[in-house]
Parts: sequence; C-alpha cells; structure tokens
Amino acid sequence: MKKIFTVFMALAFLGVFSACTGSEEKKAFSSGQSGCQGASQGKTDSPGGASDGAGKDKKSLVVYFSWSGNTERVAESIQSQTGADIFEIIPAEPYSDDYDTVVEVAREEQRENARPVISGSIENIEQYDVIYVGFPNWWGDMPMILYTFFDSYDLSGKTVALFCTSGGSGLSGTVNEVKNLEPGAEVTSGLHIGSGSASNPDNAVSEWLKDTGLAEQ
Ligand SMILES: Cc1cc2nc3c(=O)[nH]c(=O)nc-3n(C[C@H](O)[C@H](O)[C@H](O)COP(=O)(O)O)c2cc1C
Repeated sequence: MKKIFTVFMALAFLGVFSACTGSEEKKAFSSGQSGCQGASQGKTDSPGGASDGAGKDKKSLVVYFSWSGNTERVAESIQSQTGADIFEIIPAEPYSDDYDTVVEVAREEQRENARPVISGSIENIEQYDVIYVGFPNWWGDMPMILYTFFDSYDLSGKTVALFCTSGGSGLSGTVNEVKNLEPGAEVTSGLHIGSGSASNPDNAVSEWLKDTGLAEQ
C-alpha cells in the first residue's frame, strides 16, 4: 500500500511540475491565488458572441477548475474548438501555491466531504445545452470544489461532458459519480489527458469531440 502511495505521489509530483515549466511555473508560484490559474476570474466569458456550441444550434459552456494550469489548457482548447463560453471555478478561499500544502488540504477536504465555496456564479446556466466540466484528478477523485459546483446547479436535460488531467489515475470513477450527482443529465464518455500531454491537447480534444458526437452539435 505504501509502495502504491509512493508511486502515485511521484507521478502526481511529476505531473504538476512538468506542467509548470517556464513562465507557467513563475505564474504558479507568484500569483498568490490558486496555482497557474489566470483566465476568467469567476465569471463567464463569451468569445465575441460566437457562443453557440460548434457554431451550430446548441449552446455550450466550458466550466473548469485548475490549480497548476494543465486543465486550463485543455479547457481553452475545447473553447476554441467549439466556440463555447467559459467559466473558471475560482475558490473563494484560494489554495496555497505550495504543492505539499495543497496535497494535504485536498486530502483533508476529501476526508471531511467538504464543499469549498466558489467565488462568483454562472448566470443563466439554463441557456446552455452542453456543459463541459474539467478538473485535475485529486486523490483519485474530483477536487471537492467540483462537488460544490454539481450541488449548486441542476443540469437536468443537458449534455455533460467531463474532462480531466492527471498524473496517471485518469478519470477514476468520476463519470459514474457525476451520473449519480446529475441523474437528469446525459453524461458522455469523458476525456482524460495525462499532465505531460496537457500542453498540446488539441488533437486529443478534437478526436474526443468527434467520438462523443459533440463536434456535430
Ligand atoms: C492535491 C493533488 C492531488 C493529486 N492527486 C492525484 C491523483 O490521485 N492521481 C493522479 O494521477 N494525479 C494526481 N495529482 C496530479 C494532478 O492530477 C495533475 O498534475 C493535473 O494535471 C494537475 O492539473 P491542473 O494543472 O489543472 O491543476 C494530484 C495533484 C494535486 C495537487
């Protein structure tokens, strides 16, 4: 068990730090906010009015949380390939920039089944047909702030498409978990991108959009 934990932590460590090289690393450890975060701050951004799904009749929104920037890159790729609006989940109480501290805090939040508060909210979520939801795998699950998100919004009648980056755990059981949390939603197969590949996610995103039929919507 100890060996498995050590291997996981090594993978997780590599994942986070391989993603935060160069300017991203600087961003991650100087922002005073949550890791490499830097896009929309708790608000929905619409790309110049072209926000109807992939330019067709469905309207889509990318919602994501990212501590060190990997998931943010995938979120931006989905946004640029679909023309979706985008909302970054920003914790009301920012996570530390220190890796060991975040690992410990995340573990504690999971143990306590915590619901960290989200800064800001999504206006008019009912206007969206497709919601892409992205997160880093934390301790074999979604970060607890994603549970806050799913508790806060009823996604019945919508298509929900999960994407996740991780050091090696993949999506874990999150697709089934979200099916339970949002029983009225249609949850597609999820996209996992390893943290080492997150800097160049366009092809994987495009394949996934085709496979799930979302590229057609
Ligand atoms: C608190 C914490 C817990 C993590 N737990 C896992 C894990 O259980 N499995 C895994 O493969 N990677 C784990 N990782 C690694 C991240 O999932 C991975 O580096 C991810 O790409 C980071 O995404 P982000 O840059 O969007 O925050 C963890 C990282 C952190 C900070």
